[in-house]
Amino acid sequence: MSTDKLDRSLAKEIESLKEEGRAKSPERIIEAYIPPEGDRGPRYKLRGSNQEFIRLNSNSYLSLANHPKLIEAADKATHEFGVGPGAVRFIDGTFKYHDQLEKRIAAFVGKPAAKIFNSAYTSNCGLALSISDKNTHWIGDQLNHNSIIRGMRIANIPSGNKGIFKHNNMDDLRRCLDEVTTEMERVVVIFDGIFSMRGDHAPIGEIIEICNEYDSKFKDGVITVVDDSHGIGAYGTTGRGTPDYCGAQPDIIIGTFGKAFGVNGGYIAGSPTLIEAVRQKADTYIYTNPLSVADCTAAVQAIDICDSDEGKALLENIQNRARQFREGLERLGLESIPGPHAVVPLMVRDTAKTHRLVKYLYDNGILVVGLTFPVVPKGDETIRFQINAAHTQSDIDHVLGLLKKFA
Ligand SMILES: Cc1ncc(COP(=O)(O)O)c(C=O)c1O
Repeated sequence: MSTDKLDRSLAKEIESLKEEGRAKSPERIIEAYIPPEGDRGPRYKLRGSNQEFIRLNSNSYLSLANHPKLIEAADKATHEFGVGPGAVRFIDGTFKYHDQLEKRIAAFVGKPAAKIFNSAYTSNCGLALSISDKNTHWIGDQLNHNSIIRGMRIANIPSGNKGIFKHNNMDDLRRCLDEVTTEMERVVVIFDGIFSMRGDHAPIGEIIEICNEYDSKFKDGVITVVDDSHGIGAYGTTGRGTPDYCGAQPDIIIGTFGKAFGVNGGYIAGSPTLIEAVRQKADTYIYTNPLSVADCTAAVQAIDICDSDEGKALLENIQNRARQFREGLERLGLESIPGPHAVVPLMVRDTAKTHRLVKYLYDNGILVVGLTFPVVPKGDETIRFQINAAHTQSDIDHVLGLLKKFA
């Protein structure tokens, strides 16, 4: 037996993805990290190039991945317990560092309990598996992350039990709530905190207010869920994310340790009963090894740093550099989406120009992501810049200088 026949079919599928413009480009390989020095933030070297690159496409908003405290904690825990857990959580794969991280993240986001997952992706899938039944209706923002959409598919939520509202459009959210049929017992309204391609945020206060109006219509009420993967650690005055920024707390919070906190893993935070239901029902939690103890203890360190004076200074630098970059774009007459988040989109609105600009920036040592049709609608072609705490004023000036030169 061989996979020749399968390979031929798969090759055709891959070819179609390429023709449709949906194929992922080849992966670049980072070979070296060059620490910040003087007025230069960190640089990276890629395989096959002598250039030193500034990463403006990293989610590591607080720039903590190389922080000595995280590395030291990960090293200590690894020496204590080894590199892998050896089993899933319920078969004695739970170590003290898993428990510590669950308590720390719950306290940080202001919920009584939390469960950690291997990623925010599997957290979203786990939540859908835990709280859905045939009388559950889901409503989501049209720009929700792929993991929320995939979670609903994995949980076999029928298409009749779903509503999608136009991005951040509260009238359309009301329409979706009005359309829920009377036999539904539970409604879940789920949305990204920060929309990762745009850097704008969900109006959480308004969403909760509207959901409260409908709550008494359903046996289990209307439950609000934010996936704040791009907000947690990077947004709001205390780094507690979009709920912090909006001053409004959804019922359930999902997030990641793999972006601002610079580590890996995800979490669901909410009531103790919800978290016990997740432990009992979320297959993406139950039947897979947990994070390593190194990841857990490094994530605890990252949260502690975020809560310290050092963290405040890092957050301030993200805000200052993002403002510097946005103001610079404005001075150059370039279009962006307003807001204070570290995701700063440059609206190019032209596919060929987007490709040219991404290549020009790459040739000049800048890594960014270009989004073109069909990934975004025609006319919405964008380059996404992501500001990190380790970027310096001179790094940002350098990028703005390059954009100015681009004809
Ligand atoms: C809203 C949202 N949820 C989930 C994820 C996935 O996060 P993780 O890498 O922890 O799975 C992302 C990352 O792109 C995201 O933007």
